[in-house]
Amino acid sequence: MLSIKNLVYHPPATTTPILQQVNLKLAPQELGLIIGASGSGKTTLLEILAGLAERTGGEIFWRDREIMSPDLQQLAGIVFQFPERHFCGSTIREELRLGHPELGSERVKTALAEVGLETVSLTMSPHSLSGGQQRRLALAVQLIRQPNILMLDEPTAGLDWSMRIQLAQLLAKLKEHWTLLVVTHDPGELAKIADRCWTIKAGRISEIEPESLYVSG
Ligand SMILES: Nc1ncnc2c1ncn2[C@@H]1O[C@H](COP(=O)(O)OP(=O)(O)OP(=O)(O)O)[C@@H](O)[C@H]1O
Ligand SMILES: [Mg+2]
Repeated sequence: MLSIKNLVYHPPATTTPILQQVNLKLAPQELGLIIGASGSGKTTLLEILAGLAERTGGEIFWRDREIMSPDLQQLAGIVFQFPERHFCGSTIREELRLGHPELGSERVKTALAEVGLETVSLTMSPHSLSGGQQRRLALAVQLIRQPNILMLDEPTAGLDWSMRIQLAQLLAKLKEHWTLLVVTHDPGELAKIADRCWTIKAGRISEIEPESLYVSG
């Protein structure tokens, strides 16, 4: 269980806090979806949870143990918005093993299979993949580290309708094994696979029912 208590982020440069008293609980193998407009604090929240920015106040627990910033980097894997722009391996194998040269070919294969890329050639350039495949590779790059929580920033941004549906299907499959936290301004297909939903406005979060995001009939 990921548990966030009264999280505050208020850098000295801003007059008002960017995140205010954020409380959130996410159980293992759940997909949590945070929805908010541009500038509401979504990316900032993920950066704090991934240990890339230091919170001003509040507590973060994983399985009832408080986690401090350096350990957050081990706990979470973050897939940034437009992750394919940050590919820097010359081959798919290299991309997956960047920073972890110790990882063997079995782990590489498993990570690719988890995202449905088991048939791609490891010696191809990441950029030779299709747009949807590149997103899958970016997921595999995080999964290979086996994080406790996989966090995704706007995973469907810039994808066409059918690629969005495929990505939502993949995330639904991944939550059988992983705990996922997704932030977006456009819930779309993601609302249907979410177990928990929150809206974020000016750094304040409030929980809503996922069903309230899609009206049937
Ligand atoms: N280190 C910082 N110092 C000052 N202001 C910051 C800092 N980091 C973020 N901000 C501000 O905090 C607010 C939230 O930014 P954030 O990038 O988290 O929003 P977002 O919800 O991810 O938006 P988008 O949908 O456009 O990606 C913005 O007003 C941003 O300018
Ligand atoms: Mg953002």
